[in-house]
Amino acid sequence: MSALWRPYAVPGVPASLRLAQGEGAYVTDSAGRRYLNAVGGLWNLSLGLGNDKIIERVCQQMRNMAYASLFDSTHTPAELLAERLISLSAGSMKFVYLSTSGTSAVEVALRVARLHHRANGHSSKQRILSFDRSYHGCSAMNLSASGIVRGDVEKWDEILPGFQLIPSPLDESSSLECLSRLLREDAGEIACLIMEPILGSGGIIVPSPEYCQTVTKLCRNADVLLIVDEVATGGGRCGSMFASNLLSLEPDIITLSKGLNSGYFPVGATLFSASTCLPIQRANIPIQFGSTQDGNPVGCATVLAALDIVAEEGLLDRVETLGHRIRSELTALAGERGAISVRGMGLMIGIELSHEYPDKRLFTELETQQVRMRCQEEGLLVYSFDSGISLFPPLTISDDEVEEMLEILRDVISGYIA
Ligand SMILES: Cc1ncc(COP(=O)(O)O)c(C=O)c1O
Repeated sequence: MSALWRPYAVPGVPASLRLAQGEGAYVTDSAGRRYLNAVGGLWNLSLGLGNDKIIERVCQQMRNMAYASLFDSTHTPAELLAERLISLSAGSMKFVYLSTSGTSAVEVALRVARLHHRANGHSSKQRILSFDRSYHGCSAMNLSASGIVRGDVEKWDEILPGFQLIPSPLDESSSLECLSRLLREDAGEIACLIMEPILGSGGIIVPSPEYCQTVTKLCRNADVLLIVDEVATGGGRCGSMFASNLLSLEPDIITLSKGLNSGYFPVGATLFSASTCLPIQRANIPIQFGSTQDGNPVGCATVLAALDIVAEEGLLDRVETLGHRIRSELTALAGERGAISVRGMGLMIGIELSHEYPDKRLFTELETQQVRMRCQEEGLLVYSFDSGISLFPPLTISDDEVEEMLEILRDVISGYIA
């Protein structure tokens, strides 16, 4: 029994894997066994492990000034990072709040959305809409907005008032029907809709650009802010800095974290459009929160280094090319006993598995976990969702490593569906 209490685990229960070292796309366990890491940590190791360019910048910043607060002062790494993120948004965003995780980035977004309407004199517009299969983080607010964990949370804790789920884009027409009805009937009570451009934990569900355009338009017409949660999709994972650009979403607020700096330091960022902030500036209302490590200079330096690498190495184009290749090779795997549906964008890839014979049905969670464990036994780490597995390899993955990943997947998956 371990003294360590891990996330989503009973106290003291150890994990099946004890990791000791990492290099590029590989990790090694304490027994010396090497794994190709296609989970990318928790979807965030976009540049792999042991990246010397990032490590050098971390050391430089640590030596120069390991910490400075943004409460009563400012510092160059935070100022530079805010400017850099705004320029990457091509001017659609105007201000940046820097924090320490995806959860904090989203919570800031939700609080500011409510504050925006209060500052505008519409204090009844406070309800937060989100999708059924969504995940937005683990604070009380974020869990209340996260459709995918709602059932589990409700068993042991309370959902905060003022949060409402709507059908996910898995069924675009019922999702739009519900959204447009709510925005027609209750617009005076609704502050914002928060959505992942691609539902990650919900099974890598990619909505159509037409759906995204309609969502943007409906929100705009109802004076409801659109928060696009790019914690998993942003930073290059999908072949663009922001997946919203690829899907014709026009956010008022964007949240970023995971892929921003490849996990080298805890960082979150929330980007706001000028029109989101204008009423708050006019009313001269300061936000009533802030955390000690928000905008930590070392964290900012890691993001600046990671963004430099993505640009210098032309990774966004490579991600798009590799994503197409991996998805088309996996699609060819359909077998006699089972079918496979491959979804995703860039290097965020979902593989849904279903039985054809003797009964047509999706794999169960237990079955997908078995597939995941088989991959692990073969030296490949993947993630699983209720009916399939997902891949988040580093954006720097080499052609040989892609081939190794595909070979293991072909072997394992055909064992279940061929
Ligand atoms: C879309 C999305 N938002 C928010 C979060 C929460 O991020 P974190 O785990 O860094 O708090 C996650 C984490 O998986 C996520 O996928």
